[in-house]
Amino acid sequence: METIQIGGLRTAYRVEGTGDPVLFIHGFPLSQRLWDHMVEPLAGRYTLIMPDLRGMGGSEPSEEVSMEAYADDLSGLLKAIGESRPVTVVGLSMGGYIAFEFFRRHRARTKALVLADTRASGDSPETAKTRMETAAKVMADGSSVVANAMAPKLFGKSAPESLVEEWRGIMSATSPQGVAAALRAMAVRPDSNKTLPEIDVPTLIIVGEEDAITPPAESREMHAKIRNAQIKLIPDAGHMTPVEKPQAFARILGEFLGILS
Ligand code: MLT
Repeated sequence: METIQIGGLRTAYRVEGTGDPVLFIHGFPLSQRLWDHMVEPLAGRYTLIMPDLRGMGGSEPSEEVSMEAYADDLSGLLKAIGESRPVTVVGLSMGGYIAFEFFRRHRARTKALVLADTRASGDSPETAKTRMETAAKVMADGSSVVANAMAPKLFGKSAPESLVEEWRGIMSATSPQGVAAALRAMAVRPDSNKTLPEIDVPTLIIVGEEDAITPPAESREMHAKIRNAQIKLIPDAGHMTPVEKPQAFARILGEFLGILS
């Protein structure tokens, strides 16, 4: 893993492979390790760019952040590493919220979109209020508040306990400032439903059949509103499809990338 200064903050990232660039955006409050299993099957044909979002993994937090700031961090990273080609943007969950923002703000840099286990809608007032309260609890009691609440919901029924515990550990180790800032940012993020009919790049939607956080119904709604989008459901997987069913995820993603090139 390497680090670089983006917008004055230390940003950790990993780049693997050569070929057309693919930018991977992890979810909340995870890290680029979400994409570990994509390296072996895809790095022979593609350049995999896998950052830790601001305030997560090895990247430094800021007091406040927004979906716009995350998206601009990513375009800043691409510039900083000399990647000037349009990228396929793969975003999981909050990474999908950021992918919509990246598309809106950096359209010329977006070659294609992969929306994994995510949704287009913004938060309801109740969800936004809960997020604000959780952000305050995280600042008082630490990131394990979120890690313990999320760990049981992240995975499908057949996921081994060791996987759940591994990710509970990664979430607990995330900086409280980074977790709280992300919660506040998600609470006020824009509704991306109006963007869906404007998406004019090839788009693939992937979702775990047992995803309890962003259920398949939300993916189907996105699919109905994005022109020529493909949708793939992964059986026996919850919200964490790239680590629960890495071979299926890599195969579906590889087929999509193969059509683009
Ligand atoms: C995520 O997995 O990124 C988050 O759970 C998304 C959310 O809380 O809306």
